[in-house]
Amino acid sequence: MSGAIAGELMETNTAFRTEILPYGKVGVEAAAALIRAGQCVAVPTETVYGLAADATNGDAVAGIYAAKGRPSFNPLIVHVPDLDTAERIAVFSDTARALAARHWPGPLTLALPLRPDHGIAAIVTAGLATIALRMPAHAAMQDVIRAVGRPLAAPSANASGTISPTRAAHVARTLNGRIPLILDGGPTDMGLESTIVAVEGDKMRLLRPGPIDLSLQLDRSGRIEAPGQLDSHYAPAKPLRLNATSAHADEWLIGFGPMICDANLSKSGNLVEAAARLFDCLHEADMAGKPRIAIAPLPLGGLGDAIQDRLARAAA
Ligand code: TXA
Ligand code: MG
Repeated sequence: MSGAIAGELMETNTAFRTEILPYGKVGVEAAAALIRAGQCVAVPTETVYGLAADATNGDAVAGIYAAKGRPSFNPLIVHVPDLDTAERIAVFSDTARALAARHWPGPLTLALPLRPDHGIAAIVTAGLATIALRMPAHAAMQDVIRAVGRPLAAPSANASGTISPTRAAHVARTLNGRIPLILDGGPTDMGLESTIVAVEGDKMRLLRPGPIDLSLQLDRSGRIEAPGQLDSHYAPAKPLRLNATSAHADEWLIGFGPMICDANLSKSGNLVEAAARLFDCLHEADMAGKPRIAIAPLPLGGLGDAIQDRLARAAA
């Protein structure tokens, strides 16, 4: 990127006074008006807060990248209100339809072949012949999609390379001054980004583990693929040590199960609670007075794998 363009992006990035409105009629209408006008707005979903823009408007989607300071154009997830809309954008095989019927609305993203007349801006798919679609379960995101009347592209609402936001305050921490509005729907339920699976015909490939455990379904078709994304997203600003059973003097220890620690993902050893609290605990550790973070071992399998995936990348 040239210096001039970088300078221009910087200016747009700091042009806003970021308003925070509670989720409700006024907030949804304000969010929809901004998005229709080509802006991006932070909106809660059941997984993490998303930075939503009109997926049919390339300039609006470019604004997402500018606000996040993303160095490259990764393809984004498009959020749809219903299966009909999804089927106008992508080709659904019987397998894809069965997955959608079972898990939508909810934290499952399907990467599917694009239809020729899909209407989605090219910047969203970064030139791929496939598109990642999901129907979110959170009422706030559903209301905003319906009020805008367009599918919405939305990556997690945080500056590139920082921890995903599970509260409005997390969004403000890295995007304050870069976006016009955060719709505050309180803490998110799941706290981990959606499971992503690519479906072509009856073949499925797991691209990102998440709240929905597809391992049984994938096992049956015999096509499990290790998570292929090696980016360093979700990174706290401090070094992170995994599988720690006790803290060194300079470490903030995030525990799991009954143990002595500074914060606990789940005292009772519950993985659902741990997933919901993960990014919260990482944000808290980042703000704490110790220069390093340590994190206790977690059981493997299902949601444990999804959490380990995020931690391994945070530690990378
Ligand atoms: O829970 C979530 O999925 C959140 C909320 C806001 O919905 N969104 C989210 O989006 O995590 P984002 O942009 O942070 O992650 C999108 C991921 C990227 O890793 C990208 O590589 C992958 O989806 N992706 C997008 N389009 C794809 C495609 N056509 N094929 C394979 N992977 C794709
Ligand atoms: Mg992200």
